[in-house]
Amino acid sequence: MTSLLEQAEQTLEKAQSGINPRWYPRYHLAARAGWMNDPNGLVWFDGWYHAFYQHHPYSIKWGPMHWGHARSKDLVHWEHLPVALAPEGPADKDGCFSGSAVVDGDTLALIYTGHKFHGSVDTDDNLYQVQCLATSRDGIHFERHGMVIDTPPGLHHFRDPKVWREGEYWYMVVGSRVENTGQVRLYRSTDLREWHDEGILAEAEDDMGYMWECPDFFTLGGKRVLMFSPQGLAAEGYKNRNLFQSGYLLGEWQSGQPFSHDGQFIEMDNGHDFYAPQSFLSPDGRRIVIGWLDMWESPLPEQQDGWAGMLSLPRELSLGDNNCVLIKPAAEVTALRGNYYPAPAHNLNNQKIFVASDADAVEVLLTWERNASTAEQYGIALGEGLSIYVDNQAQRLVVDRRYPEFSLEGTRSIALPADSTLSLRIFIDRSSVEVFVNEGEACLSSRIYPQPGQRDLILFANHGTATLKDAGYWSLNK
Ligand code: FRU
Repeated sequence: MTSLLEQAEQTLEKAQSGINPRWYPRYHLAARAGWMNDPNGLVWFDGWYHAFYQHHPYSIKWGPMHWGHARSKDLVHWEHLPVALAPEGPADKDGCFSGSAVVDGDTLALIYTGHKFHGSVDTDDNLYQVQCLATSRDGIHFERHGMVIDTPPGLHHFRDPKVWREGEYWYMVVGSRVENTGQVRLYRSTDLREWHDEGILAEAEDDMGYMWECPDFFTLGGKRVLMFSPQGLAAEGYKNRNLFQSGYLLGEWQSGQPFSHDGQFIEMDNGHDFYAPQSFLSPDGRRIVIGWLDMWESPLPEQQDGWAGMLSLPRELSLGDNNCVLIKPAAEVTALRGNYYPAPAHNLNNQKIFVASDADAVEVLLTWERNASTAEQYGIALGEGLSIYVDNQAQRLVVDRRYPEFSLEGTRSIALPADSTLSLRIFIDRSSVEVFVNEGEACLSSRIYPQPGQRDLILFANHGTATLKDAGYWSLNK
């Protein structure tokens, strides 16, 4: 009998040849075909970075979750590997939900949520989520060990275990929902199999969400970061504009103590599409984060093309002055740079300047002299669908995307940092843009869907002048 893993491989092999490449990423990770959501089990093991992800190989829609799998030596060149986990049951009969990976001696261990309904009706009352373990010696084939933590009494939503080693113990945080309160629960173990319940690490106060998904808990520059993806935050001014958020609380923690923090939830990304980020350590000790470069319930026009969903670039975190988390593209991303093309001019006077055509894999560098730039808006556009500009009156940096044919229209923006220059590193792939601001102060990521002929890069200044200190782009090559 063909196993579920073999069936998944056969399906993907066939489906892969039918992919329309027009929006398929050139240097980001996406599934070979079918559906992808959260990154899972990001880890360095035996000379490779591994990225697993929520995957439905059988269609371009979410369905019974599998773990897709890819590996890389450098975080930018990815090699697809066979699907690692399928919902083979009994603990995960309706899906292998999100989770994490750790290296335990010579073994790669995956800890993930087994998702299952009891009875024939798929309602929340019949939903059970438990934490499961699978292990591998070769990093490719996994042995399943079933459930290691059962659903706590009274809970239904209990998922997305993130495991790490600290001192002599393994620790795990799990996202959960108690009535309409999001929580993160903490567990401790010596062997990844027997887990001791350490109680609630953090929970939503005020209007901080009914469910906290995909928690992660790590040290950064002497502080402790609780990163998670809350559902149910109300939009407030320019904040929390997406359906769901991802962000962090910063504080202090020691084993056996509560997590003390200031309650300030800060979004990880201010664009339209970024969710369920997870972090891992590189062998040289950098804290890297990768997220799903999409949002639940987005139209995902690439579904017409046989695939859905992609992951963000790897981003390196550090702790800046004022205790804010800085987010920069990981150093490895620079390895993609090919030729550099300086912009043809540095001064714009109420005009447009053509920079490049066919920009489908580029890194653009723009350093604006803010004091010398009086234009009402100045920035860069990709065809007619995307523009990234300074709104001088509002003092905001805006990402404006307009693809009305796919019901994708609207802006996201951040307050301009106080500095006298504004430095942007903008990564454009076939259907994504990621804007990194001033050495890590902010990041805005959105999916984009340019039609053929809509990939000209144009600098512009409206109603006034704008001055660039530095400007150009690299073509990015794999
Ligand atoms: C987050 C999430 C997780 C869950 C997974 C299911 O996007 O909802 O909470 O484990 O996706 O695919």
